[in-house]
Amino acid sequence: MTGKIIGLGSYLPEKVLTNDDLSLLVETSDEWIQERTGIKKRHISDHKTETTSYMAGIAAQRAVEDAGIEGSDIDLIVAASTTPDVVFPSIACMVQKAIGAGEDCGCFDVNSACPGWIAAFLTAQSFIEAGRAKKVLVVGAETLSNYVDWTDRGTCILFGDGAGCAVLEASEGIPVSSIMRSSCERGDCLFCANMKQPDRLDDEEFIKTTSFQMAGRDVFRFAVTEVPKIIRDVLKKAQVPADEIDYFILHQANARIIEATAKKLKIGLDKFPMTLQETGNTSSASIPSLLSTMKKEGKLQRGQKLVIASFGGGLTWDAAYLEY
Ligand code: UT7
Repeated sequence: MTGKIIGLGSYLPEKVLTNDDLSLLVETSDEWIQERTGIKKRHISDHKTETTSYMAGIAAQRAVEDAGIEGSDIDLIVAASTTPDVVFPSIACMVQKAIGAGEDCGCFDVNSACPGWIAAFLTAQSFIEAGRAKKVLVVGAETLSNYVDWTDRGTCILFGDGAGCAVLEASEGIPVSSIMRSSCERGDCLFCANMKQPDRLDDEEFIKTTSFQMAGRDVFRFAVTEVPKIIRDVLKKAQVPADEIDYFILHQANARIIEATAKKLKIGLDKFPMTLQETGNTSSASIPSLLSTMKKEGKLQRGQKLVIASFGGGLTWDAAYLEY
């Protein structure tokens, strides 16, 4: 048994922040940001109305509609987020309400920073393989803009808000191959020490102490070393040659990281789709949002061989091989 992706959906906030807009906030330029990251713009949520759960709920509704099923058909919701609205209830519970799933639907969240959606996806696969669930909704959603230090040009240029979601259905087939890795030893280069409090989002001093910290160069070096390695290892585990893969769906963090990965794997960049130009890094929403965009553009066909891979805070890095 395996969990086939039968529906995809995504949501991006209405407000767009361009590189030129950012150059009014910090000393930077459109040219620098595009050259060093590939990012042209990102979407920023209205923190009072477009909460993480709101965006997750809309992405989930769209995925359920795309799958051609009802919310009440879903028997498990796993949500990934590092920026939930509140400590509890979980984002998954709020999504349950948004899609009209019944009380016999299990709901919980996972937090594994940017690879969170892959962790949620693999958790869902395990439930399906064990026969514990048949139709599972896997959603990733983030309001990173609430946690960014908007005076730090080394981080604020990278991140955006959004949500992405997939519906998985138990189907005959080979289980997904996967590898999950983590290193708390190296975790200091990317961390966020405190939760935001919604009613203090206009308090500049409080915001500063709850913003996340990143040593960009260290994270970059970690990513370009470990991502190609974990992809090679997961393909070896799946016994599938790299040149048979239709698409490598990588975490949308920085075009240079994706380019370096393609080069190390000796695979053409055309097999590494990117949406980061339009969205920036949306953390756990990045991979399901990219998949949703690819479906809308007609790029996903049944039977295609895909690799998904991500890296981020923890440090954590995961990869999986699946057939679409
Ligand atoms: O989900 C995972 C999250 N994290 C990541 O994926 C981050 C990975 N790291 C990166 O993407 C890159 O390291 C950055 C985009 C953050 C930075 O790019 P870089 O090429 O590694 O730049 P750098 O930090 O080595 O800085 C080069 C120069 C420095 O100036 P000096 O010391 O050479 O004079 C920086 O002060 O660029 C300067 N700089 C900037 N200049 C204009 C740093 N940020 C900016 C900026 N605009 N926004």
